Amino acid sequence: MDTYRPRRSVLYVPASNDKALAKIGQLSCDAVIIDLEDAAASADKIAARGKLPRIFASRPAANHIGRRCEMVVRINPLASEWGADDLLAAASCEPNGILLPKVDTPRDLLEAGDLLDDNSAPDSVKIWAMIETAKALLNIGVIAELGRDPASRLSCFVAGTNDLVKDTGVLATPDRRYLMPWLMQMVLAARAGGLDILDGVANDFRDLDALARECTEAAAMGFDGKTLIHPAQIEAANRAFVPSAEAVAEARAVKNAFSLAENAGKAVIALNGKMVEQLHLVQAEKLLAKAAAIGE
Ligand code: COA
Ligand code: MG
Repeated sequence: MDTYRPRRSVLYVPASNDKALAKIGQLSCDAVIIDLEDAAASADKIAARGKLPRIFASRPAANHIGRRCEMVVRINPLASEWGADDLLAAASCEPNGILLPKVDTPRDLLEAGDLLDDNSAPDSVKIWAMIETAKALLNIGVIAELGRDPASRLSCFVAGTNDLVKDTGVLATPDRRYLMPWLMQMVLAARAGGLDILDGVANDFRDLDALARECTEAAAMGFDGKTLIHPAQIEAANRAFVPSAEAVAEARAVKNAFSLAENAGKAVIALNGKMVEQLHLVQAEKLLAKAAAIGE
């Protein structure tokens, strides 16, 4: 199994907002996305890009639990006047990832990957992709397939729900009912491609109850974490995307049952009146590794 890297809470930080940038070292999120795209007005985009070296030079070594927060840069679309320069400026800071907006086809990712390769970006610089257009959803299977080829650098999908609402015309309701089929499609594709997948943002950053509900729901839907817009949202996401105490206890029970001498070599056993198969053991071990990695 690959080592689990938590991406429960992933906060957008506008590169154009110095006060927000100054907060990065104190945040307990698993990752930040320094945003050069929608959070930077056209007139501020070049100045925002120019701040990247300073932002990365002051990159915090570790957060309160001793883990380094991942740092990702969201660039402008490669087809825009800023995209290519954003990508090169970001790559030279060696971020954990470069988040590409408005990805429509595999070609969009391959183009970014080629630019990174041509500029000798280390393999550790991964590509993250916003899934936020109707076209991306129609092409999601072939886009996700790139995740199986390490040379593509593709590592993570990010649901862009605000753009998806804009692009499709669906009504944005509090229960996200019209977005649900597409969100589930993204999760499915991410799993097929071996990618992480992050839920979209909750715009109402004062309503933390609604956010907590959305995080719990996203965890149940199979998302690895949630993208966030405000530091007040971090805690709810960190709480929601960890295995519950009950789930951990159940996983331990499954593991213990299979380790009993009487069950050695069995494909299927009974545990508290329920059928448990080897696949449940694999699932349990994965869950325990995740809980241990988070350290909670
Ligand atoms: N990252 C880091 N710090 C942030 C932050 C963020 N995303 N959002 C707010 N803060 C900081 C503020 O700078 C402020 O700092 P201060 O205490 O030094 O003044 C503090 O947290 C409290 O902020 P608050 O006053 O509650 O909010 P605000 O009115 O300053 O900002 C938003 C509200 C929505 C404009 C802001 O949260 C934001 O820009 N979020 C990100 C938007 C974004 O990136 N969108 C694109 C992706 S969807
Ligand atoms: Mg967007």
